[in-house]
Amino acid sequence: MSETQANAEQTMPSAVGAGERTPIPSAYDIPIEDILPVNARLWSEHRWIEYFERLRAENPVHFNQTELAGRFWSLTKYKDIKAVDSDWQNFSSANGITLGLPVDAELPEGALGISTFIAQDPPTHDVQRKTVTGIVAPRSLVEMESLIRERTCTILDALPEGETFDWVNTVSIELTTMMLATLFDFPFEDRSKLTHWSDVTFAIPQPGGIIESEDDRRKELLECLEYFTRLKEERLKNPGSDLVSMLAHGEDTKDMSPMNYLGNLLLLIVGGNDTTRNTMSASIYALNKFPEQYDKLVANPELIPKMVAEVIRWQTPLAYMRRTANSDCEIGGKQIKQGDQILMWYASGNRDPDVFENADDLDIERPNARQHLSFGFGIHRCMGNRLAELQMRILWEEILARFDKIEVQAEPERTFSSFVNGYTHLPVKVTRKKG
Ligand code: HEM
Repeated sequence: MSETQANAEQTMPSAVGAGERTPIPSAYDIPIEDILPVNARLWSEHRWIEYFERLRAENPVHFNQTELAGRFWSLTKYKDIKAVDSDWQNFSSANGITLGLPVDAELPEGALGISTFIAQDPPTHDVQRKTVTGIVAPRSLVEMESLIRERTCTILDALPEGETFDWVNTVSIELTTMMLATLFDFPFEDRSKLTHWSDVTFAIPQPGGIIESEDDRRKELLECLEYFTRLKEERLKNPGSDLVSMLAHGEDTKDMSPMNYLGNLLLLIVGGNDTTRNTMSASIYALNKFPEQYDKLVANPELIPKMVAEVIRWQTPLAYMRRTANSDCEIGGKQIKQGDQILMWYASGNRDPDVFENADDLDIERPNARQHLSFGFGIHRCMGNRLAELQMRILWEEILARFDKIEVQAEPERTFSSFVNGYTHLPVKVTRKKG
């Protein structure tokens, strides 16, 4: 989430040998060393599964080197991912959490120098995380539950019947944006700005896209900072129990630089938005793809919490996190050099047949679904995991109370990113329960 790392995937040549319009070849038709897991097309065209299947079987610790990013490794097996994620002493987050420029590269011209606690090691990480973690403490979640339910009901009650509409925009984005506005106590009428800044943070610049250049990103994020600086001034005078007040008054965060403030805001905006949004859409899609699982859920709504964990495994809303090796070391028999970037592919670990049987299938009674990697491990383990699960549980309790069916009308369109594994459009039709 800083510009030394931002989107090194965007300008990468497609190492699967495919130009913009050439179809992506089968994973088994190219030399294994040419597989480039960060190629965003593998994700937007939903071809990543077979590529990672091959890597897990033939080359589980996979090396790439590109002009932009330098040397980097892809971990594809559950046990290697968990081991690296749990070991912050040897594998640092301080150089960034997505694939970026080599660690000794200079900041690109015009870079803002944003920093955030997910991309820090102890002690900075720990004190900044501690400042905001109360927002998702068990008591706080209990207090939020009725508001989340009320909003969920309002949105579900307003859905048109018998008409195709986009689930992503109408339900997933609406619900997660409202949640974010609550966490920040952000002016409700301006809440769509939060979704926009969330999208801008990881968007790959392209003509007609969310942003067209790095300069666009910079301008948009500076607007975000300006808006939140005004909020901070307000909260300094009138503190509440929201995230802005926590950062403004916290002993370890009150004097942070504007770019550290912006970084932490973006972390909380993206963390609370893209991930849960894509889980909501994924649950609809997955339960359509596996209709016998949907029938099982309808017959026994007590399975909702298990279904939620299983969807989070199956989808893996953040496909990977990056670390940087602090010293020369060995992983899976491969020699890693100090400064090498290491991508922990949660999406692949979650499909590892050594841990999850028939891992490509959705099984809402899977006994070990909760062992998924989607929230990470160790000191950076997702702070908002309980909140995301709560939002999902409520959504499905209210769906089952109202609808007989939610039918997907066409294949979804997917996010052009190898980091955010999500959906941009999911056309559906709903049928309400009679009587
Ligand atoms: C299904 C939904 C979600 C998924 C899949 C998800 C995933 C993740 C992952 C993979 C990490 C990094 C873990 C690591 O490096 O070991 C993370 C960290 C984080 N997440 Fe989430 N997240 C979700 C929802 C949320 C929500 C709702 C919030 C907002 C409150 C949130 C806030 C954070 C924060 C603040 C961090 C940084 C933690 C740290 O560095 O100590 N996440 N999340």
